[in-house]
Amino acid sequence: MLANVPTPRAHRTVHRSRRAITALLAACLAGVPLIAAAAAPPPLLLGTAWYPEQWPESRWPKDLALMQAAHIRVVRVGEFAWSTFEPHQGVYHFGWLERAISEAAGHHIFVVIGTPTAAPPAWLTSRYPQTLRVKADGRRAQHGNRQQFSFSSPLYRKFCREIATRLARHFGHNSDVIGWQIDNEMGPPSFDAGTRRQFHAWLRRKYHTIGALNRHWTTAYWSQTYQHFSQIPMRATGENPGLLLDFKRFVSATWASYVRNQVQVIRRYASPRQFITTNTTHWGDQFNQYVINRQLTLAAWDDYVPDGHYHWLVNGVQDDLVRGYKRRDFWVMETQPAFVDWAPVNAALPPYAMRELAWQDVGHGADAVLYWQWRSALNGQEQYHGTLVGPGGEPVPAYRVVRGVGAQFALAGAALAGTSPRSRVALLQSYASRWAIDFQRQTVRFGVVREFTAFYKPLERYAQSVDVVAPDAPLGRYRLVVAPALNVLSRAEAQHLAAYVSAGGHLVLGPRSGMKDPYDALWTQRQPGPLAALLGGRVQQYYALLKPVPLAGSLGSGRASVWAETLVAQAPTTHVLMRYGKSNGWLDHRPAIITRRVGKGSITYIGAWLDPPLMRTVLDALARSAHVQPLIPGVARNVEVCERRGDGKRVWILINHSDKTHSVRLPAPATALLRGGGARREVTLAPHAVRVLLGSGT
Ligand code: GAL
Repeated sequence: MLANVPTPRAHRTVHRSRRAITALLAACLAGVPLIAAAAAPPPLLLGTAWYPEQWPESRWPKDLALMQAAHIRVVRVGEFAWSTFEPHQGVYHFGWLERAISEAAGHHIFVVIGTPTAAPPAWLTSRYPQTLRVKADGRRAQHGNRQQFSFSSPLYRKFCREIATRLARHFGHNSDVIGWQIDNEMGPPSFDAGTRRQFHAWLRRKYHTIGALNRHWTTAYWSQTYQHFSQIPMRATGENPGLLLDFKRFVSATWASYVRNQVQVIRRYASPRQFITTNTTHWGDQFNQYVINRQLTLAAWDDYVPDGHYHWLVNGVQDDLVRGYKRRDFWVMETQPAFVDWAPVNAALPPYAMRELAWQDVGHGADAVLYWQWRSALNGQEQYHGTLVGPGGEPVPAYRVVRGVGAQFALAGAALAGTSPRSRVALLQSYASRWAIDFQRQTVRFGVVREFTAFYKPLERYAQSVDVVAPDAPLGRYRLVVAPALNVLSRAEAQHLAAYVSAGGHLVLGPRSGMKDPYDALWTQRQPGPLAALLGGRVQQYYALLKPVPLAGSLGSGRASVWAETLVAQAPTTHVLMRYGKSNGWLDHRPAIITRRVGKGSITYIGAWLDPPLMRTVLDALARSAHVQPLIPGVARNVEVCERRGDGKRVWILINHSDKTHSVRLPAPATALLRGGGARREVTLAPHAVRVLLGSGT
């Protein structure tokens, strides 16, 4: 039977009961406990992206039985199915999805529906080519791929709203549907004439007068002065930095209204029990994620390790980044079954790394981990991608690994209900700063994500839990707040940070911080701009480095590479913690790190990108003096400690990322949930083992 051909009701009923029996038998054979359909989804979900529209309905029961046997409790469906939902304009076929959902429910599998707007159908793009995106080079995108639509097109949005409305009306009160994903990995803007007019209107709303814009962007430079908003170009590179930063903000606002267009109708027609999210990419900075996530119920990201080299700290920082979008638990909406198909070399994650990654996600606050995708589509652009079952429908090796993870989720999930990571250390992440540095790196070697991660690694190793939040997030709970490169710093943000310090907080600024105002113009007092007075010192000059430079002082000694700034301590209470050694003549013996106590708090400025050993020495010392304690002291270097707290529980997730056996002594007795049982304080972890332990706590 073809997926989109409606079946007569009687025929459907017979089919359904036959399938239910098949499913029951399959579950019995697979040794799955026959539980009654849960009214609410379990607190920890294993899942997969399932595309029932690509397969005959007669196949669905087998797929779902295999999923059930792997403890899969959620499928995401529909996000690329527009041509099946609406094969002709105004002709809607939702019966197939209804049947797929009820079939899934028969296997205790919940459903998240993706709105299909990332891939418009051919009838739409051929009849309304003005909805197609225009690329930066002026060429219009073609049908045949995805993301070919213009995010600002009012006409495209009308179609999006209509399909989202129809879906929400149809499935918004289906108790097996637990949530919605808007679109899929939104990203590319459009450079068409309509978008440019919207950009001009956005600028006019922001600046009111062209004179104000000219002033903030310093357009006297290179004779850029504008008489009318309509003269302003729209480019994403090679422009006035003020324009580039505003273009990014405009793109963020446009994606936000694109999302809102669908969120509004889903909220209107769907039960509030169903969450709304969208899935974002690896470190995605196409738009400001905090802005987009404001209107969503929860954040979600797609956790891929394209080259197969899983490094737990490199992955962990991204979990923490996404947790910070809404400052609450999140979902991993996609991850790879062994390998992807879009890297230069699509090497497979080892089976142990798949387990470590899934549990690390949970340890950092994920309440669901979904594998992309269930089964290889027979054709289409992603034939080589990792799956859980192959083109013939039989499990591939990754299936067994995922089933193992699923069994563990089933054992430990209940304990995680109501728990989340609770950090005492925060890293500040700002899109304006990331963009501004990217526009003008000064050295190609200054990768903002790399520099951010260089600060994260030792802090995470030391504190075992780090929040990554926006500079305007509430900071009261943190003992230590570190801003690795807060390049763009507004007066309001500076006041917020100064208030944190005055209340006893310890603030550490990394290189390039406080250089620019919110218009991407230079602060005249030099770095850290509006925080220079509080620091009682400032940056004198910055240098891109060709060779590492030595540093030494009361915190130890070591080297810095890529970037170094000379500092001056101006206030009598501002102290030099480290100086550069002899190097390029400019840096020699000048201050590299300065600090000042402010009441019970402090502000410290680190002017260089420290090499890993020194970064660790310095940040460990600063964390200690801020009274930050590790969650579990004395743990081996590549044993990750995650802690989730809540509901009077304390759950430790211990992951041995190394090839050696290690022991961990817990601060209090806890019960092993995955195996072993019984209360214990001493835990032995074999190479690459994961342990989940339940203790009590507040
Ligand atoms: C994601 C995307 C999926 C799939 C996957 C392959 O970025 O959302 O649809 O293409 O990549 O890794």
